[in-house]
Amino acid sequence: MRSDNFNLMYGYESKWIQEVTSLFNKTEMNRDNSVMVDRATQNSQVLASVWNGQNLLAIGRMLTDFQMYSNIFDVVVDPEFQKKGLGRRVMEALMAKAPATCFYLTSTFGNEPFYLNLGYRYHKTAMARYPEFFGKSSYLDWEREIE
Ligand SMILES: CC(C)(COP(=O)(O)OP(=O)(O)OC[C@H]1O[C@@H](n2cnc3c(N)ncnc32)[C@H](O)[C@@H]1OP(=O)(O)O)[C@@H](O)C(=O)NCCC(=O)NCCS
Repeated sequence: MRSDNFNLMYGYESKWIQEVTSLFNKTEMNRDNSVMVDRATQNSQVLASVWNGQNLLAIGRMLTDFQMYSNIFDVVVDPEFQKKGLGRRVMEALMAKAPATCFYLTSTFGNEPFYLNLGYRYHKTAMARYPEFFGKSSYLDWEREIE
């Protein structure tokens, strides 16, 4: 498949939800609640995706105030199309919509170099609080307390 057939798009339509959830479910970022994913995606100001015809290959979304701070979530590339620059394309498309802001995100384990390559650095005092149904998420440092 030629890479010049990959089309970047901004925006989101609910009719894509099956494509979106099946893309997530090809990776470790499983999403079983498609209603929640659909609403969360609709409520994100910036959505970037890469398509080959009708096939969704990559996606990512951003919540931003467009002035100071942006949060990036759910950047996913179809495993068959990873390491071809599509993840970088989605990230650059998201960041281009609020270029002067501080960007925040949480990497999945093992993908930190992808973000380091894009200029991200570890954030020394980043903190997060997850709802109880997440249980003891391995993304939170349960040992570290007041120092
Ligand atoms: C993480 C992910 C989005 C990266 O997308 P991708 O399309 O494979 O990445 P790209 O091809 O755009 O990579 C850009 C650069 O980062 C590097 N890179 C990407 N993933 C990497 C990894 N896991 N480890 C080391 N380097 C990595 C690439 O080699 C490339 O380097 P280069 O610019 O020097 O050539 C993709 O692997 C993915 O969807 N993973 C599963 C879902 C997930 O965990 N998403 C992250 C959510 S936080």
